[in-house]
Amino acid sequence: MAETILKVVDLTINFSGLKAVDTLNFEIEKGEIFGLIGPNGAGKTTTFNMISGALKPTSGEVWLNGQRIDGNYMYQTNKLGIARTYQNINLFRSMTVLENLLVGQHCRLHSGLFPAIFRTPKEKKEEEAAVQKARDTLEFCGLGHKEDTYSSSLSYGEQRILEIARALVSDPVLIILDEPAAGMNPTEKNSLADLVKRIRARGITVLLVEHDMKFVMGITDRICVLNYGKRLALGTPAEVQANPEVIEAYLGGGD
Ligand SMILES: Nc1ncnc2c1ncn2[C@@H]1O[C@H](COP(=O)(O)OP(=O)(O)OP(=O)(O)O)[C@@H](O)[C@H]1O
Ligand SMILES: [Mg+2]
Repeated sequence: MAETILKVVDLTINFSGLKAVDTLNFEIEKGEIFGLIGPNGAGKTTTFNMISGALKPTSGEVWLNGQRIDGNYMYQTNKLGIARTYQNINLFRSMTVLENLLVGQHCRLHSGLFPAIFRTPKEKKEEEAAVQKARDTLEFCGLGHKEDTYSSSLSYGEQRILEIARALVSDPVLIILDEPAAGMNPTEKNSLADLVKRIRARGITVLLVEHDMKFVMGITDRICVLNYGKRLALGTPAEVQANPEVIEAYLGGGD
């Protein structure tokens, strides 16, 4: 039987009277590619923020592998195995591609990343391992040839991939992607779809928000549809596309 990795129970958040997410329930199975869709303002990013620890829910619960995690800080959820990317790209623009990934590993290194002068052999070894891991991750994501490029010089699509690489370097069990295909051209979207599948093949569960319906329908195992903070539907892409309420609220909107 499939094993649940993430469970969201009656998740609710109130922003001065507005229920941005309202008694939301869903479960994600280990190894799934799970989509969260809905019109602008439906509460998708807010849901991600509550799962990843950026926001504390007003009520409700989030469980990761049987452990309750709502109300944890982001560094805590990250340690437990949740890594994410952002709807608005959130990279260190004045750092190279490789450095952006090393910063991602910083919280996991015991001795800090660049101890200025007195490096013990243990620290040096740790640093070399971090660099190697960053390089392997960049290679895996197709950015190996760009390690010395400043992240601000990357194309928009490459910056989105770099965000994914930075999330991967923390060895997550669940990766959360907020509109990863936004601003990508069709070729970039195809390689993103391929990357997401390879991430899953590594045993990492994927939760993603995306407005590009062709992308979402082509890649996800199941989809939860949000509308005004509430769950409108949940099922396979085929089930969701055939749901009259979904068609009316969202898919029929010509997005
Ligand atoms: N920190 C906040 N304070 C007050 N209201 C907020 C806050 N964050 C989000 N909201 C509101 O909550 C609702 C849900 O926003 P959210 O960003 O989660 O939507 P979304 O589904 O991600 O939309 P989009 O597709 O445009 O990214 C919106 O009405 C938004 O204005
Ligand atoms: Mg959003």
